[in-house]
Amino acid sequence: MDGVIIIGAGLSGLSAALTLAEHGKRCILVSAQPSERAQSVLAEGGINAAADTMGEGDSTALHYEDTMKGGVYLADPNAVEGLTENAPMILKKLTELGVPFNISGGRPVLRNFGGQKKKRTAYAKSSTGKMIMSALTDAVRRYEAKGIVTRYPHHIFMGLIMSRKKCTGAVFRDSYSGKQLMFHGRVIVCCGGMNGFFPEKTTGTTANTGDVQAQLFALGTEFANLEMIQYHPTTIGISGKRCLVTEAARGEGGRLYIMRGGERWYFMEEKYPELKNLMPRDVVAREMFSVRRSADTEGEVMLDMTGLSAEVWQKRLPDLRCEIKEQLGIDPADVPVPVREGIHYFMGGIYVDEHHRTSVVGLYAAGECACQYHGANRLGGNSMLGAIYGGRTAAEDILGSKDTVQGGEPVITEQTAASVKLVREISDILSSALGIVRSEDEISAALVRLDGLRCGGGLDKARLSLARAMLMSALERRESRGAHFREDYSKPDEAMRRTLIARCKDGVTELYFRELPERRAQHEGKA
Ligand code: FUM
Repeated sequence: MDGVIIIGAGLSGLSAALTLAEHGKRCILVSAQPSERAQSVLAEGGINAAADTMGEGDSTALHYEDTMKGGVYLADPNAVEGLTENAPMILKKLTELGVPFNISGGRPVLRNFGGQKKKRTAYAKSSTGKMIMSALTDAVRRYEAKGIVTRYPHHIFMGLIMSRKKCTGAVFRDSYSGKQLMFHGRVIVCCGGMNGFFPEKTTGTTANTGDVQAQLFALGTEFANLEMIQYHPTTIGISGKRCLVTEAARGEGGRLYIMRGGERWYFMEEKYPELKNLMPRDVVAREMFSVRRSADTEGEVMLDMTGLSAEVWQKRLPDLRCEIKEQLGIDPADVPVPVREGIHYFMGGIYVDEHHRTSVVGLYAAGECACQYHGANRLGGNSMLGAIYGGRTAAEDILGSKDTVQGGEPVITEQTAASVKLVREISDILSSALGIVRSEDEISAALVRLDGLRCGGGLDKARLSLARAMLMSALERRESRGAHFREDYSKPDEAMRRTLIARCKDGVTELYFRELPERRAQHEGKA
């Protein structure tokens, strides 16, 4: 079968499919899980757009500034310009598709989120991802009925079809029947983050195994900024997983404190009087890590939401309250909740340019699997926006391209599932070195341990190789920037404000820095 092949049916995949379908372009939506089980469904707090419905004088230029600053200036400025300029249009489209955003006077109400000086985050109570996914799934279904979109859920990526170094299709295996399928066309990878490399440490679904990324890495695709892993400050540990306590809780007035000398110390409010508990996530997570280790403090960092009004709980955060009650057996309206940092997002991933083209001709990537928009630290609320805009941008580039895709030979990289034992061993090693605070000694020791692991070939080897690239990237970036904090290089270094590329060539991992694009002249001075 021919058409644009989209791997992954979460937000970025649905956005790409919808954009292509609206232009009458056939596409094939292949995913390991159905849309209803995609990671995007778990997104809680909201989606950013400088729609200025709160009359605060917000603008797309200010959204651009906050996003670049939040990412410590490691993102492509032109891509971020496109993202932030298009955000109000995306919010309008989602509203038209029927997303039940909280509204007032017919317009979305916006809430405060981290690292942003204006109210800019639209939300549907505390289940925004679920609501957006339902609306997009429904919108895509209309095109499924017309035969423009064909879905293949429960299909596992096995490899690309390549012709003279160009990607001309992809190969999949039906996880129920075992039948192998080949599709020809351009490929957009929308497979989500690499949660499966950190199974017990992440708020994300481990159904996002990272296997697709490992296979693409083994095939020689460029990856970027693999060391940039975001720790969300407020998560709770439940049955071997981290569960998100949305940033919206702090956006609505929740306060972080730790006990010191028998009294509550509101350390974020004391240290950061402007944005207080809503500093960017890297800063909050690092402060929490540090105050917990301080000699004069006791116990866990607590999130106090007892000051939130009944109306806020009912209209803005009802699901969060239910979740905490169910999981911890306490009511956050009555008592503070102990919270810790948990892995939440991968800013690094498959290298893409502004059009979401990867280093392999014919292959695109969008959503969390791609390294785009977020630099060294992502702002809350920019994830769903980046996924929707990224899927759309990749689709538009394909719609605008003329050359045809033909022929090619399959390059199969996956024959068997990854070994459970190896997945765990790799996870332990990565976690020992890629925490909130890192050092050369720890990363080097982790590399030695990783090299001592025994593995077969195929997927195991590919996963090991990508894990090694993560550690090598963390070692190579000898500075502290955003989510990557090195105690031995504790300041940002302007000379390192570059994209760190990792690539596997002939089985050997290469690293090199690439200059960031200049901001195009027509955009300068708008902020
Ligand atoms: O805290 C949250 O609701 C997470 C939002 C995000 O990561 O964008």
